[in-house]
Amino acid sequence: IPAHLAATPPMGWSSWNKFADRIDDKTVRAMADAMVSTGLRDAGYRYINIDDGWQGERDAQGVLHPNARFPDMKALADYVHARGLKIGIYSSQGPRTCAGYEGSYGHVQQDAQTFAAWGFDYLKYDLCSGEWFYPDADTVKRSYHEMGAALAATGRPIVFSLCEYGRFDVGTWGRDVGGQLWRTTGDITDDYATMARIGFDKNGDPAWAGPHGWNDPDMLEVGNGGMSPDEYRTHMALWAMSAAPLMMGHDLRESTGETLALLTNPRVIAIDRDSKGIQGKAVRKVGTMEVWARPLADGRVALALFNRGEAAASLAPSAQDAGLTTVSGAQDVWTGQASADFGATRTVPAHGVILLVVSGH
Ligand code: GLA
Repeated sequence: IPAHLAATPPMGWSSWNKFADRIDDKTVRAMADAMVSTGLRDAGYRYINIDDGWQGERDAQGVLHPNARFPDMKALADYVHARGLKIGIYSSQGPRTCAGYEGSYGHVQQDAQTFAAWGFDYLKYDLCSGEWFYPDADTVKRSYHEMGAALAATGRPIVFSLCEYGRFDVGTWGRDVGGQLWRTTGDITDDYATMARIGFDKNGDPAWAGPHGWNDPDMLEVGNGGMSPDEYRTHMALWAMSAAPLMMGHDLRESTGETLALLTNPRVIAIDRDSKGIQGKAVRKVGTMEVWARPLADGRVALALFNRGEAAASLAPSAQDAGLTTVSGAQDVWTGQASADFGATRTVPAHGVILLVVSGH
């Protein structure tokens, strides 16, 4: 099992949130191009992941082929690699995937070999179809172990993303089956209520997370239009505070300046990918406000003041929130400016966040 993968949470793009199973070769190539031209690649986003909907049928030898929307997977992988990016694919442990396409059941080794031969660098492996959705813990663990071992046997470094919705305390065994990340929740949708439920309340046990193994609260919806600018900032801040994989889910060609500024903010990305890999968590709750802290490798602490309420609310952060005795400086993550008077009362808009990086001792 390759231990070197995903030292920090994987970053990239996935087709599902925007395109569902209406994804095709041309769109994937366009996303690779847009990843480069927008500056997203150079900000750290590296994976172009094809989610469900690429599969066709198996041939007489059992080899799985793509459907007509994907004429040549190897050529597509080459195209993505030529742009300094990596490419991901999707399958499921049952006979059918969640969208009803051919799954890997009975063909696990064969499919792993196929994905490696095409040149894929990442596999998201789902838990779907009929009775396969509700098996017992042993069956689930065994099926993920089988694919993890099959990927390792290919000799190609392939990030293994488990998608079984956090069942059976996945973070306690995800690493053992070869996984680098594991979904902890059901599917995100592009609305504040769902995003907040997932990001604040459901994202696994922070103790499970660390270099080479991450809790995955699902892909980003930033840029898809269903949330306000404050709500998307909260989405991004929550994922960064949680050391979550940052898989964008919008049409990269339609990224507005505001969307790009949020997604490429170097300070929020640095929090997400901090080398210590400590998943932040809520340290104080007052009314509709939640204060989250995340200790960083250089001794500073990321501090988020979230307002989950429907109206603006105020709160004064304290050194204690950051686990410090004295705070000597604070930087606003969105602007990069020093934030004077750290302990002053701050007003946070409805569904909004103030995100700081705090130094002290
Ligand atoms: C499940 C997953 C989603 C997506 C779809 C594809 O619902 O949770 O992220 O991969 O399957 O069918």
